[in-house]
Amino acid sequence: MAAKDASEDAPTHIAIIMDGNGRWATGRGKPRLFGHRAGANRVREIVEAAPDCGIRYLTLFAFSTENWKRSRAEVAGLMAMFRLYIKREAAELNASGVRVRFVGDRRPLNPGLLGLMERLEQDTERNTRLHLTIALNYGSRDELTQAAVALAVDIAQGRVQANDVTPESLARHLYTDGLPDPDLVIRTSGETRISNFLLWQSAYAEYEFTDVLWPDFSRAHLQEIVLSFAGRERRFGSVLT
Ligand code: IPE
Ligand code: IPE
Ligand code: MG
Repeated sequence: MAAKDASEDAPTHIAIIMDGNGRWATGRGKPRLFGHRAGANRVREIVEAAPDCGIRYLTLFAFSTENWKRSRAEVAGLMAMFRLYIKREAAELNASGVRVRFVGDRRPLNPGLLGLMERLEQDTERNTRLHLTIALNYGSRDELTQAAVALAVDIAQGRVQANDVTPESLARHLYTDGLPDPDLVIRTSGETRISNFLLWQSAYAEYEFTDVLWPDFSRAHLQEIVLSFAGRERRFGSVLT
């Protein structure tokens, strides 16, 4: 059999659970927010590296529906950081051809942050070099619940017959409508769990768990994982002939 060409087999869509900011900071005797800032600074390197690795879609888990359980100070610090991040990075993202989308429940977000998110989405909507999706106040169970409610309303109002509901029609009600499913999900920081991230969309994703803490995750780490992905045999329930 001919050797595989790694670039041909690069994952189209990588999703990353950016974990370990708190431990990174604590290990340095610093407050957790110091780690979040270091983590946010890592995002640029990974966004730049992704298209070079053949990745077209990159989804980053920034804040989960469960992260509100953290201290008020940490949540407020994270929200302030998201605003700062968008203000600081918007021009650069647009100039480098990145289309930015946000997925998650927007309703509890501060209007100032929401305005910045919407503007960034509008300003970058024609870009195609990299599709960057930021999961902010995102949780799969929340997403699937609101999809079920939307379908129930469609059925109750006679727009859809219950028997006509398909996996595709349900997926159109998810925040990720229009995005391909992730081929590879990476979680940093050594935790081997999914934490309510893209449960539906990752049905056939490959997973990679690395001990590296997110603020230390570099272009080289990404390249190494992409290379190892090329060697995986994905069967999708079938038998390879
Ligand atoms: C990930 O880092 C960032 C968010 C969840 C917002 P953590 O803050 O979870 O870092 P650890 O897991 O406590 O080290
Ligand atoms: C998942 O990390 C959420 C994000 C990376 C944004 P958490 O640190 O919140 O997950 P758990 O609590 O360890 O499962
Ligand atoms: Mg964590």
